[in-house]
Formats: sequence, structure tokens, C-alpha cells
Amino acid sequence: MSILDKHGRIERNAFLLFIFSLIVVSIGGIVQIVPLFYLDNTIEEVEGMRPYSPLELAGRQIYVREGCYTCHSQMIRPMRDEHERYGHYSLAAESMYDHPFQWGSKRTGPDLARVGGRYSDDWHIQHFRNPRDLVPESIMPAYPWLETTRLDETMIENLLIAQRRAGVPYTDEMIANARADLRAQWDPETHDTSGLMNRYPKAQARNFTGSAAPTELDAMLAYLQMLGTLVDFSTYEPDPTR
Ligand code: HEC
Repeated sequence: MSILDKHGRIERNAFLLFIFSLIVVSIGGIVQIVPLFYLDNTIEEVEGMRPYSPLELAGRQIYVREGCYTCHSQMIRPMRDEHERYGHYSLAAESMYDHPFQWGSKRTGPDLARVGGRYSDDWHIQHFRNPRDLVPESIMPAYPWLETTRLDETMIENLLIAQRRAGVPYTDEMIANARADLRAQWDPETHDTSGLMNRYPKAQARNFTGSAAPTELDAMLAYLQMLGTLVDFSTYEPDPTR
């Protein structure tokens, strides 16, 4: 009896075929699933990634609240047209501190994963007042209230604590300094920013909108101008073992 004849028996018996298929599929499943139980982290660590600064995190919160993700993705795919338009494809590590993630599922507007530094603060201010002043055919809604609404700074510690519960490594020191760091980033002229820069390297500290007190738009701009700027792609080498 050749091996093919034996296999023929399995193929003609639905029950046997089911049992053996189940065994084969289980082996494949175990090989994929078991490593996840002992690996602490399956995301390649990338130099430069850090938790969001308090002002950036507050901006991100407003981004989520306003539903920007319904029109904007934050995930550049590894295809040539995307690479040419948006820059290096997104790394898993670049969204490791995102709870909830902002990959999005629809691009009515462009991907924003690397929008940081692409436009001036003034461009963004005008764009949020009325997108059509800058891009006549734009269908993006205006968000004029971001500029006139004062940022609620009292929730910032709780925001960091909530993110820590979701797995972001905010330290006690970061939480204790959250409000001071937020202020220092918005007003580096009269604050000492050394603590902020230690805790959040590359944080961009300035009064983004020239406001008298931090507004929601200041937080939004701190967030947008940081997006995609943390990892230095001129020195980044993908780990070939991953
Ligand atoms: C109804 C869909 C829609 C929503 C909601 C929306 N946008 Fe847009 N956005 C667009 C479109 C379309 C464009 C491209 C035209 C333009 O620049 O106005 C755009 C452009 C942008 C740009 C310029 C990007 C680039 O690379 O040129 C930024 C930044 C931006 N949006 C941020 C936001 C933020 C932040 C929010 C939430 C407060 C938001 N958008 C909500 C549709 C949307």
C-alpha cells in the first residue's frame, strides 16, 4: 500500500479528514501563538520613541474627540506611492504609545503620520479656521473653536494616569510634573524646560498660537508638529532578524 493509497483513505472519509486537518491546523496555530506567551514585547524597539509630552497628549485627546481619524489615517504603508508622498513607512513602534491607536480606516484627507514640520504653525492656524482659505477645494470642516477654547489643564495628570493603566510607561515623576511640563512646553520663555526636555526629548517648546493662555489649538499643534518627527530615519536601520 503506497503512501498515496493511505492518503486516499483519509480523503474519502470525511471524519478522518476533519480530525487530521484539525491536527495540522492546530500545529500551525500553536507555532504562531505560543511565542506570544513568553515574549514581553513583539514590537521592535526604535530609538527616539517616547511617550507623548503632556501638551502633545492633550492635543491627541482633542484629535480623538473631534474624530479626525474618521478622515485621516496615521499609517504609511510600505508602497512606493505612499513612500514618495508621505515619507518612510510607519513602524509598529511609532504607534506603540497610542491608546487607542489612530491608524484610521479611511483617507478622505491625507495621512498625517508624518505631518510634523511639514507646515508652519501659522498655516495650521489658518487651516483650522477655514481650510478653504488655503486649499479651495478642501472638504475638511473648519474647527474655529479650538483656537478660542482654553485648554483644560486640570485633567492632565489623570490623562497620564489613564494612559499608564493602558500600558504607557509614564513614571511617577512624569505624572507629578505633568502640569508644569505642559506649561513649560507652551511657554519656554518664562519656564525652565530642562526637566521637560529630559523627560520628553525633542519636545517642541513654544507658544504655538501666540495665545495668552494655552488653548486647545496650542495642544493640537504640539501634537501635529511632533507627528513623525521622533524617529531619525537618516540613521534608522531595520532589524533584519524581525
Ligand atoms: C470630513 C473629513 C475631514 C475631517 C473630519 C478632518 N479632515 Fe483634515 N483634511 C481633510 C481633507 C480632505 C484634507 C485635504 C485638503 C486640505 O488640506 O484641507 C485635509 C487636510 C488636513 C491637514 C493637512 C495635511 C497635509 O498633509 O496636507 C491636516 C493637518 C488636517 N487635515 C488635520 C485635521 C485634524 C487635526 C482634524 C480634526 C480636528 C481633521 N483634519 C478633520 C478632511 C478632513
